[in-house]
Amino acid sequence: MSQVLIVDHPLIKHKITILRDVNTGTKDFRTLVEEIAMLMCYEALRDLPTTLVDVTTPITATKQPMISGKKLAVVPILRAGLGMVNGILELVPSAKVGHIGLSRDEVTHRPHEYYSNLPENVDQRLVILPDPMLATGGSAIQAVDFIKSKGCTSIKFMCIIAAPEGLEALRKAHPDIDIYVGTLDEGLNENAYIVPGLGDAGDRIFGTL
Ligand code: PRP
Ligand code: URA
Repeated sequence: MSQVLIVDHPLIKHKITILRDVNTGTKDFRTLVEEIAMLMCYEALRDLPTTLVDVTTPITATKQPMISGKKLAVVPILRAGLGMVNGILELVPSAKVGHIGLSRDEVTHRPHEYYSNLPENVDQRLVILPDPMLATGGSAIQAVDFIKSKGCTSIKFMCIIAAPEGLEALRKAHPDIDIYVGTLDEGLNENAYIVPGLGDAGDRIFGTL
């Protein structure tokens, strides 16, 4: 069964508040995005299957759980999703990494795809799709459309801040995926930016303000 989880953990909330601050510089912003991604990934992977394996401790032989099931792929939505990748790889270092490049048109706010590169056998993997911002939902919906078109059936979308409009749109378009949200904001402004939000996540991560 798919799920939508607003993670809402005090550590995540605290770090998001610092992210929001217009005075937080690029270096701290990048570090915080990575840390939040790691904390969210911990929650998002709570349902990974495990299987018992034989292990011998200094005391005795025993059967203990190890992660089993599908291997993982992390597929960030460029650019801003890249900022979350290292935090996720801290927890799952053997995951393969793919990329989907989407950028929103400034006037229509519709996403435009400019690059994609997915790992081999991605259809047999659990795909984690990180992007810090879920605003109108257009980018996330297009990214999931694309990943599904490659045969992927296990998808977890992860964002740091969501607008209710975007969350609703993504759920409606893709009710079968899991969605993890750091915090849910008030809504969108006339430029389809999240309010109160944190501004343009890509610009703040890469210092292109
Ligand atoms: C931002 C963000 C999402 C998208 C969200 O990317 O990282 O991908 O906007 O908006 P949406 O939900 O309305 O589609 P942007 O297009 O600004 O590109 P960037 O990451 O390269 O800055
Ligand atoms: N993209 C961003 O980076 N920020 C927003 O608030 C909306 C879209």
